[in-house]
Amino acid sequence: MKTTTKFGQKAQDLISHKLFDNSLIEEMPATDKHNFSKTSTEWLEYFRFNRENLLPIPWEASYRLSDIEKTNISNSIRSFQLGESSEGTNLLKAARAYAAISGDSVYVETLKLFIAEEQRHAADLARFMKQQEIPLAQRHWTDTIFRKLRKLANLEFAIAVLLTAELMALVYYKALADATRSAVLKQLCQQILRDENQHIYFQSEQLGKIRYRRSTWQLYCTDLLHRLFFNATLLVVWLDHYKVFRAGGYSFSRFSQEVWIEFDNAIQTMHRKPQNTQSQKL
Ligand SMILES: [Fe+2]
Ligand SMILES: [Fe+2]
Repeated sequence: MKTTTKFGQKAQDLISHKLFDNSLIEEMPATDKHNFSKTSTEWLEYFRFNRENLLPIPWEASYRLSDIEKTNISNSIRSFQLGESSEGTNLLKAARAYAAISGDSVYVETLKLFIAEEQRHAADLARFMKQQEIPLAQRHWTDTIFRKLRKLANLEFAIAVLLTAELMALVYYKALADATRSAVLKQLCQQILRDENQHIYFQSEQLGKIRYRRSTWQLYCTDLLHRLFFNATLLVVWLDHYKVFRAGGYSFSRFSQEVWIEFDNAIQTMHRKPQNTQSQKL
């Protein structure tokens, strides 16, 4: 018999009433401040729900970027578009290995929907770039480094690297939304920010499940290493994308302050207790 979780029922209710707007997304359980992380099945339902409830993008809007706007965002958006376009092959491989040990086979399916969301971001950004005659990037050194890092080790390491990039993205897309007067780009950034906000919960909770049985000092050391990596990444991101941040009204100190707030929130989310015992098998 098919069972529907509390979130599944709520999602179905929202879809059936076609009432999806900014106020309702805040009711979605992924943003709940509860003490338990969601199961992979609940996340699977979330991703299915989100896929059917996207913001409308005004693709027909005729606004052309000014020369200054184009200079500010072109190289930067090319790099982010490339970063969003990963097929997630190594991530899925690591997820299958994790599922085999933990018994959480639904996680692999959930991760596929997560990767599909990232590829939607890449496709939408590419469409915008094509409209504005900004060529796609084939390679970018930061993207190459992030991809190589994600290939290096297990699921935990791959997710920690991914989470670091997504925390940067959470502030970056706010700046990008304000860096031009393009209605298409503004709405596209809003959609990406909605998605990325949930991705942060998804990845943080998964890291929490993987690390659930670790001692306090082990968690302290892991946290410290992540902070060092995060600090180095934020410097690189600022140096590489400062034109967008400045155009979007961000000084370095504001950018740094906001990403560290997001990082601390993510750490808090990691400390939620898993609802099931799958993580305890690890
Ligand atoms: Fe994304
Ligand atoms: Fe993401």
